[in-house]
Amino acid sequence: MKKQIFLLVAFISTLSLLLAGCGTASEDNSSGSDGQDKKVLEMATSADFAPFESRDASGEIVGFDVDLAKYVAEELGYELEIKDMKFDGLVGALQSGRVDMVLAGMSATENRSENVDFSTAYNHSGEMFVTLKDSNVKKLEDIEGKKIGVQLGTIQQEGAETLQEDYDFELKTVDDGTTLIQELISNRIDVAYMDKSVATGYIEEQGLAGFDDPTTSSPGMAIAFPKGSDLVEDVNEVLAKAEENGKLQELKDKWLNEEQ
Ligand code: ARG
Repeated sequence: MKKQIFLLVAFISTLSLLLAGCGTASEDNSSGSDGQDKKVLEMATSADFAPFESRDASGEIVGFDVDLAKYVAEELGYELEIKDMKFDGLVGALQSGRVDMVLAGMSATENRSENVDFSTAYNHSGEMFVTLKDSNVKKLEDIEGKKIGVQLGTIQQEGAETLQEDYDFELKTVDDGTTLIQELISNRIDVAYMDKSVATGYIEEQGLAGFDDPTTSSPGMAIAFPKGSDLVEDVNEVLAKAEENGKLQELKDKWLNEEQ
């Protein structure tokens, strides 16, 4: 009996060693991080901003920015790796060199340009106020006395703070873009102030209402890099090519709403 138990234990430990061995081997192969064949380009995004970046039903990050990043990586001979983080942490991730670039529908503002370098702009959008269908907020002046939500660290947060100089309303910041619409639907805010291309998607899908902000003139969206990155020039060349050969238009047709 003792001998049988000993054999069983020996068998199980051999088996687990074998299994553990398989695990690490296949992990090493698939990560490719130290397999020198292809250089890795680490991109960060905040996958809460459809149609630019969001997670599909299987949890994969998809969208306009993802397709554009794949095209850039392919053109420059890199393998693309995507890290998902809070929008508010993206500039910091570039500054500390944790990632090589950011595609997150990020507007190339002068403030951000003090800390990161931007490519040429690849898309222009505006801002919208999104409300429930039966809301009495129908124009800019109606935001007076209301509760308005924005995503933390965005130009919409800055824009709303500027609007507060002229209108008296309560401002709520949330750090995840997808919860902003949840806040609206569950009546915790009266208005979500957000990027127009993102807003139009929600309005259509969720049966919401909304109107354009007549006061904004936001800078275009661009790819961000750590200050001084060599990638900027190469990526700008790829973007110019994408503009010329119709790739950029193809991606806009695939992901963005008509009037872009
Ligand atoms: N364009 C706006 C900005 O730069 C919002 C971008 C938000 N992006 C996101 N992936 N949540 O501030």
